[in-house]
Amino acid sequence: MKPAIVPTAPLSRRQLLAAATVTAAGLAVGACTSKQPGRAHVVGPSASAVGQAEARRRRPGAPVREVSLTAAPVTIDLAGRTVTTWAYNGTVPGPAVRLRAGEVLRARLDNRLGEPTTIHWHGVALRNDMDGAPDMTQPPVGPGGLFTYEFTVPDPGTYWFHPHVGLQLDRGLYGPLLVDDPAEPGGYDQEQVVVLDDWTDGIGPSPQQLQARLAAQGGMMSQDGMMMGQGGPDASPALGGVGGQIDYPAYLLNGRPPTDPPTIRARPGQRLRLRVINAAAETAFRLALGGHRLTVTHSDGLPVAAVTVDTLVLGMGERYDAVITLDDGAFPLVALAEGKQGQALGVVRTAGGARPAASARPAELDGRLLALGELRADPQVALPARRPDRTHQVVLSGGMMDARWTINGRTFDDAIPLQVRQGERVRLVVANQSMMFHPVHLHGHSFQVQSRAGSGAGPRKDTVIVRPMKQLAVDLAASNPGQWMLHCHNLYHQQAGMMTTLSYVT
Ligand code: C2O
Ligand code: CU
Repeated sequence: MKPAIVPTAPLSRRQLLAAATVTAAGLAVGACTSKQPGRAHVVGPSASAVGQAEARRRRPGAPVREVSLTAAPVTIDLAGRTVTTWAYNGTVPGPAVRLRAGEVLRARLDNRLGEPTTIHWHGVALRNDMDGAPDMTQPPVGPGGLFTYEFTVPDPGTYWFHPHVGLQLDRGLYGPLLVDDPAEPGGYDQEQVVVLDDWTDGIGPSPQQLQARLAAQGGMMSQDGMMMGQGGPDASPALGGVGGQIDYPAYLLNGRPPTDPPTIRARPGQRLRLRVINAAAETAFRLALGGHRLTVTHSDGLPVAAVTVDTLVLGMGERYDAVITLDDGAFPLVALAEGKQGQALGVVRTAGGARPAASARPAELDGRLLALGELRADPQVALPARRPDRTHQVVLSGGMMDARWTINGRTFDDAIPLQVRQGERVRLVVANQSMMFHPVHLHGHSFQVQSRAGSGAGPRKDTVIVRPMKQLAVDLAASNPGQWMLHCHNLYHQQAGMMTTLSYVT
């Protein structure tokens, strides 16, 4: 049942592409930054609006940080197993890119893969034409091609980067992007980046095989132990149902399986800041450190009023920073594949003693769980209270009769962009009408989750879990002109259509 298209409705992507074929270059679209002939972009602000937004962010004389990222096939070692995958600069995760807020990142991508790719800078409020959205903000970079991303990084925080083409993210192509605050209040002695991933490449079916199986079986029917039944033994109350549709053969913490965990060394009594990034394609993780509590200080890079919990769940694409005052010993840092079988593991060591077992299950995993509703944006990043100028409904469905996943009843190729105007306060009411959770991610902005009472002041985030049959409102300041993807960060849902565009119009 597709919504009817009334003549005044904005054109869908498919209609625009069709129009472009007819009129060739005659379809004037202001936001077009692609040099590729025959490709149309949704009507939006001119390239000059994007340039002006960048100029407002750029400080005169801002330092430029240069990095080189080569995407290429590599061989890595997973606890003694040699695995061929794709990665940046030969490592999984890729190299940490680190700079200060207000500096300019100049990142040269060298594509040595056999297929086109892009880099998306997840969570960064950057200039639209550097966002890495293929065929929307740039033509994908072909095999052997080079592309230089250059943009001001405005806000401090924990971000990450990954490709935005096909199923590449479900290989080893991801890395942390850390933006330091020149006025960092501190409050910790040491920090550690923790990147979580679900892994199949080279040890299980390929991402393409997984996608084909999902397409073939459609819906949520259980088969081959791959799809997990609704309400079954693996169901997760935190996710409101199943943990996912794919059981991965391994879960990695900083590129290592639990039989060969990385060790984080510190001294007893030190305050350790963890910057945790869920880079998985299809898995949420429940994180805990045995014998310790986590004081959550940032959600998706931006500060929140501190909340102390035993454990927290990260959806795909989400980040949390937490500070921990360390005890004396060797402790399991466990990231349980939420609603699935298996876990990733690290060891936090402040003294000698035996290494925790690969299957260690600290009691904190069943302790007090962080709830989204208890987080409040720090006043310095909270959006000033304002009534929305415009509200868009974002209805998530799919997974029942076929393998399509949709937003507002449409897959991405046929999506009708959600229009906004610069300067507006925009509310997105995200309603999940499916039986799976979806981590919904918006490019180029950090929205503010609205509290249940509608009185604003939830956390600022760029990715938020919406549970089955639940609804969530998020508000954003439309201050970053361009065409921005809005999608589920379950890679297989995104590829099966669950993506649309937030589109600035003039
Ligand atoms: Cu992290 Cu559109 O993605
Ligand atoms: Cu989804």
